Amino acid sequence: MIHLENIEKLYRTDTIETVALHNISLHIDKGEFLSVMGPSGCGKSTLLNIIGLLDVPTRGQVKIDNQILGNMPDKKLARFRNQKIGFIFQSFHLINDLPVMDNVELPLLYRNSTARERRRLASEALEKVGLSNRIKHFPSQLSGGQKQRVAIARAIAGSPEIILADEPTGNLDSTMGNEIMNILLTLNSSEKSTIVMVTHDETMAKKTHRLVRLFDGSQVQ
Ligand SMILES: Nc1ncnc2c1ncn2[C@@H]1O[C@H](COP(=O)(O)OP(=O)(O)OP(=O)(O)O)[C@@H](O)[C@H]1O
Ligand SMILES: [Mg+2]
Repeated sequence: MIHLENIEKLYRTDTIETVALHNISLHIDKGEFLSVMGPSGCGKSTLLNIIGLLDVPTRGQVKIDNQILGNMPDKKLARFRNQKIGFIFQSFHLINDLPVMDNVELPLLYRNSTARERRRLASEALEKVGLSNRIKHFPSQLSGGQKQRVAIARAIAGSPEIILADEPTGNLDSTMGNEIMNILLTLNSSEKSTIVMVTHDETMAKKTHRLVRLFDGSQVQ
């Protein structure tokens, strides 16, 4: 389902060049739950952004469902991404001026669904993460774990085939972390979502199908 071939990512500023990813080739099957580990700065978020079509590699190819995505026009790419992929970001990326329900509905706006349909999908997603009683709250009125769950609801509301999660349990205590992990495991087993999760937590990684380790931009396992 997801195919990365010889991915290289360089960041250049005036003075320094950083090799964020070096020669990464990775095949992820449909329905697979993959975790990615490695020290800070080793390229995990960069990898996730490239898989999620939010960033382009300097060299190499990304294929999803056998479509080569490097030369797709921006608008088409944005639509493809919106329908296929749900993102849970390291720092939530919630819109602070919008209540919970509207945050979750946001990615659904880019589809041809009615307001009523959007509300229904967002409500269902919020129910799955146990936040039906917080739909009118604003992000600033939520705990870290609750914000993380809103971010998950937003990522899953449109039933994307692929979920990319960047340290979804990173800012949480172990009880809340386990709860979030269980939500992801359920999505993977019952809805066959393909999931790539960055984590610093070995016990979380052990619950997934496969672990990829990065070190200084290279795959070491
Ligand atoms: N926009 C950018 N410009 C220049 N360098 C960047 C940029 N984004 C990332 N980098 C560099 O690329 C490398 C990989 O960054 P990345 O964010 O992928 O690391 P990470 O593994 O997710 O780390 P963390 O665990 O701290 O989140 C780092 O050395 C970082 O400094
Ligand atoms: Mg990161």
